[in-house]
Amino acid sequence: MLACRVNPVRLMNAPAHPPIQGIYQGIDRSKAPEPDILSCPVTGDRYYSREFAQAEWDYMWTKVWLIGGLESEVPKPGDFITCEIGCESILMVRGLDQRIRAFYNVCQHRGNRLVHSQSGHVASDFQCAYHGWRYDTTGMLNWVYCEEDFLQGSPCGKRNLVEIPCDTWAGFIWYNMHESAKPLHEHLDPISSQLDCYRMEHMKRTHWVTLEGDFNWKCVQDNFNESYHLPYVHPQACISLDEHYSNCQFDLYPSGHARMFMPGGGPNPNYQGSADDVFAALGEELKFWELDPEPYRHDLPQLRTALQAQKRKLGEAKGYDFSRYSDEQLTDHYHYTIFPNISFSMKPDGCIWLRGNPHPTDPEKCLFDMWYLTLFPEGATEYYSASMGDWVSIDHPAEHQTGKVGEVSCGPGIDQDVAIWSSQQQGLRSRGYRDDYMPWQERRILYFHQNLDRYIAGEV
Ligand code: FES
Ligand SMILES: [Fe+2]
Repeated sequence: MLACRVNPVRLMNAPAHPPIQGIYQGIDRSKAPEPDILSCPVTGDRYYSREFAQAEWDYMWTKVWLIGGLESEVPKPGDFITCEIGCESILMVRGLDQRIRAFYNVCQHRGNRLVHSQSGHVASDFQCAYHGWRYDTTGMLNWVYCEEDFLQGSPCGKRNLVEIPCDTWAGFIWYNMHESAKPLHEHLDPISSQLDCYRMEHMKRTHWVTLEGDFNWKCVQDNFNESYHLPYVHPQACISLDEHYSNCQFDLYPSGHARMFMPGGGPNPNYQGSADDVFAALGEELKFWELDPEPYRHDLPQLRTALQAQKRKLGEAKGYDFSRYSDEQLTDHYHYTIFPNISFSMKPDGCIWLRGNPHPTDPEKCLFDMWYLTLFPEGATEYYSASMGDWVSIDHPAEHQTGKVGEVSCGPGIDQDVAIWSSQQQGLRSRGYRDDYMPWQERRILYFHQNLDRYIAGEV
């Protein structure tokens, strides 16, 4: 992980004051070669056809690495969580050997769902509620009622839970329903090595929302694969970031994942609004970092570098180790989309984690998840999350809030995204929708659909 390492020699020779550009390497920003983007239309039926949804299930969902939960949810042997994906339920449990294993959550006697709670702990076994079969934390069937009555021989040790590949990265538990899946680290290449510097395994989940909405799961991933919508869906955000594509970088990787760098800490150079609006938009952040913005009133673009320098200067005193981040990482938006359905939007002090899961039966519905993962400063137990506009506590893990769209908030920014998807779904299924007509800056969407088609064609 050379790219995230601080060079100690350079640090020793560093001047006592900024400029500090270049000392902290952070994530390698080298532009990835542009892949071939095929000119396949994004047709409306991809968002409502049951046949297409079934093809996605058969050839993609059941063959790709997916996140089941957090390692921190199963700290002790016997701790377990379950997660739903489509019509499947996956059981993940930490064994006595500390290993986390994943199984289909189904009893091998006559198919009853084995575990119904989202999380919990077993002293030694899971017991099926129907006829009492018991499985240990390695999935082995070790006790059945009337064991002597099976003409075909005892099922114990034989009809074990069906295990599937399971691995961990960055504090997340990943599973894959394909028995011969390629290793997780291959799937995540080159994203995982870039994101390692954020140490997400040390972050705490401080917001956890699942919404059911009337839109296909791809509306979610499409949306987080472009920033073209920012001035119209999030006009307030454009006061404190530079969304114009000409100042952003987009990288598309052969693995199907993508990233975007967008300058933050101030608006784009063509901003026409008032400096007071910019100061207000950055208010909490400027206050926390004790930066007086007045000297930049007539030179707003300098605010970004001033904020970077201030974070570098005060970071350690405020309990942060920013040495793994470049200056850009301290203010800018580092946004990653992981194929097929996850986004990581990285901040120096946290991550907005977003996911669109398919509904079990209806392609026009989605289960949208938003987690905010907070990196608490050293020694802090309470922290104001500027991204969420909320105080969070290290002692109170987030409660899972669930509801329909509009019933539960995902925070001010994401709520604006969510509000648009149902309306888009209505248009996508209209006879009047004539397929997409996208600008080049939205090519991550085309690439995402192209990769989905590769799975459906059996090429991956
Ligand atoms: S279905 Fe589980 S014990 Fe019968
Ligand atoms: Fe958005």
